[in-house]
Amino acid sequence: MDNRPIGFLDSGVGGLTVVRELIRQLPHEEVVYIGDSARAPYGPRPAEQIRDYTWQLVNFLLTKDVKMIVIACNTATAVVWEEVKAKLDIPVLGVILPGASAAIKSTTGGKIGVIGTPMTVQSDIYRKKIEVLSPEMEVQSLACPKFVPLVESNELQSSLTKKVVYETLHPLAGKVDTLVLGCTHYPLLRPIIQNMMGPSVKLIDSGAECVRDISVLLNYFEINRSRDKHELNHRFYTTANAKRFAEIAENWLNLKVNVEHVTL
Ligand code: DGL
Repeated sequence: MDNRPIGFLDSGVGGLTVVRELIRQLPHEEVVYIGDSARAPYGPRPAEQIRDYTWQLVNFLLTKDVKMIVIACNTATAVVWEEVKAKLDIPVLGVILPGASAAIKSTTGGKIGVIGTPMTVQSDIYRKKIEVLSPEMEVQSLACPKFVPLVESNELQSSLTKKVVYETLHPLAGKVDTLVLGCTHYPLLRPIIQNMMGPSVKLIDSGAECVRDISVLLNYFEINRSRDKHELNHRFYTTANAKRFAEIAENWLNLKVNVEHVTL
């Protein structure tokens, strides 16, 4: 047993999609979350900067005495997961491997689409991971740089958002049977994305998939939180506006949340 919280990090509100799944699948675990909305989006930034920023978030979480860190951001996972994992003595999970293996399981015709930030797509990491596991798959990737700013400004249903999603995803329409939402912000746009791609396309939420791995590791290392500890005190931190973050978080998690502004 280990009653310490699990630490989550993201460039902003996207990692909340992973937290929502955590609360659904592992409701007795406690969360500490840091979102760097002041510097989002990370996707168009150079790798070295993403690496620096991610380490700042990791170090912040370490000050909160977390038992595990989840890099709930594909972009940061693509750039620095291996390095963080190698340096820390607590388990560190990323979201890419779980998403890649779920896509392989789900595809019926071997045609997998991946959408993500410019850095995630440029790194080609999903294709590489999928290729190692299942070389016969055909992977098409597409960067969607306009999605994260829309989500960060809580424009989840607006007509502008619909227009941007439709125009951006157009090149993939009819070409894939499975689409990996390779950015943790994108599940917040899921209904519009599903509508654009059509009902037969299976959407993979890499963050949600990662929660299954969290559960496996908690069991493996025997660090589950005791079920007798009923009082949960989830804590959320943002580098930008706490009120805006709380609005998105409360809507998405269906939970009253404590959000504190921090400067890194
Ligand atoms: N949520 C992030 C991801 O999964 C990053 C978005 C960004 O800041 O560009 O890639």
